Amino acid sequence: MNDNLHQLRCFGCGDRISGAEARPNFRCAKCGDLFEVEYAGWSQRRGHDRPNPGALKWLWRERRSSAEALDQSGVWRFRELLPILDNFGNAVTLREGNTPLYSMPRIGRSLGLDQLFAKHQGMNPTGSFKDTGMTAALSVARERNFEWVACASTGNTSAAMAAYAARAGLRSLVLIPEGKIAWGKLAQAMDYGAVTCQLKTDFDGCVRVLTQIVQEAPIYLLNSVNPFRLEGQKTPAFEIAEAFDWAVPDHLIVPGGNLANGAALGKGFREMQELGLVARVPRISVIQAEGANPLVRSMRQSQGETMEPVDANTRATAIRIGNPASWRKAARVLQETGGWCLDVTETEIAMAKAEIGAEGLGCEPASAVTLAGLKKLRADGKVAPTDSVVLLLTGHTLKDADYTIDFHRGTLLTDQEKAGHESELARLQRNAIAVDATPAAVLAALKGHA
Ligand code: F0G
Repeated sequence: MNDNLHQLRCFGCGDRISGAEARPNFRCAKCGDLFEVEYAGWSQRRGHDRPNPGALKWLWRERRSSAEALDQSGVWRFRELLPILDNFGNAVTLREGNTPLYSMPRIGRSLGLDQLFAKHQGMNPTGSFKDTGMTAALSVARERNFEWVACASTGNTSAAMAAYAARAGLRSLVLIPEGKIAWGKLAQAMDYGAVTCQLKTDFDGCVRVLTQIVQEAPIYLLNSVNPFRLEGQKTPAFEIAEAFDWAVPDHLIVPGGNLANGAALGKGFREMQELGLVARVPRISVIQAEGANPLVRSMRQSQGETMEPVDANTRATAIRIGNPASWRKAARVLQETGGWCLDVTETEIAMAKAEIGAEGLGCEPASAVTLAGLKKLRADGKVAPTDSVVLLLTGHTLKDADYTIDFHRGTLLTDQEKAGHESELARLQRNAIAVDATPAAVLAALKGHA
């Protein structure tokens, strides 16, 4: 490892260790907290040794027209800001990142916002934002000659890990909660050749089991406690800044599950500001499902000082997490950027997802909490009409087709959940209609949809 370029700093007690000294569970030996990758060199170097913002911006744009695999990756294109490998030749890439930033004109208009965008991380190779973190941490695993990698997952991390491990020729072990992940994600882990174990527990239980396993066997842990994951996951911040011509949006809204993603994006913006690439950072808000809202409770009860785990329950299975590992890091991002933290109901999630679908984008349920949260923030006057807002859509709509079909058939929500929202639901639901195989019958069906 390039330990002279980076080190790990404990988020809790501030202790610094080299990457090679990290324990298999990536917890600090002194206080048990998580580590963050730190590039001490940046602040120590002076003059010509410091990364030059103008030159970096030029270099990163130039790489977009390069034929090199590393340059075509939207993560490694920014490799000057993630010097975590000894040799970039060890990077395992599926050309992740470089995801589209879409405008959302219809939803924007309905909310009275001129500048509403979706950064669609579901457009990554395995269909979720996890690919950006996985290319980083799996490359570290390869550089360190691990044969096995593993993660506990609600589905997307496992899909990404299995794919990148397969590319690198490593074996992968997936622990998932039985019956609580979307089929598309389970199918991916199998297809990419992981050893997939469905445990009779929830995500938090899978994490507990895996944490013990990695202390007993030489298996590299790829959950987001692994700080190298966050180095990859910070790069969408660079892409967003680049898309805004380095003037950053006012507000970025992300879903909250295990809480690494909000933390990673906050780190990305903070580092860009420190290096003089951007003048300010956006407000970063984190939205959780009402049934899986430990960070919302923590912010409400103790301003993010303490967090009580909850028994998590939501149909947005990706974020069905009651004991999130990165809660301290996420709380700091909220505090530093002035972001909001709130929760949304199952009905709000389902309706927001259908609206994102109707924009021609689509996303998985967990991603839709961002729009559901934005609606509340707008209603409370916490987002101004002139604010530029980016929703981070974390997963592709095909990840969880069952949810979408159940919604449009009207079988997803209970009567109680539908109560008071009937007309809006009727406007959004688009069930498939059984029609005779004649032109006349199809044209007759169109009449109802003038
Ligand atoms: N959105 C999607 C689609 C996810 O899969 C996840 C997390 C999140 C949001 C939340 O991100 O955990 O960084 O706060 N999925 C995990 C997994 C944990 O195992 O795939 P977070």
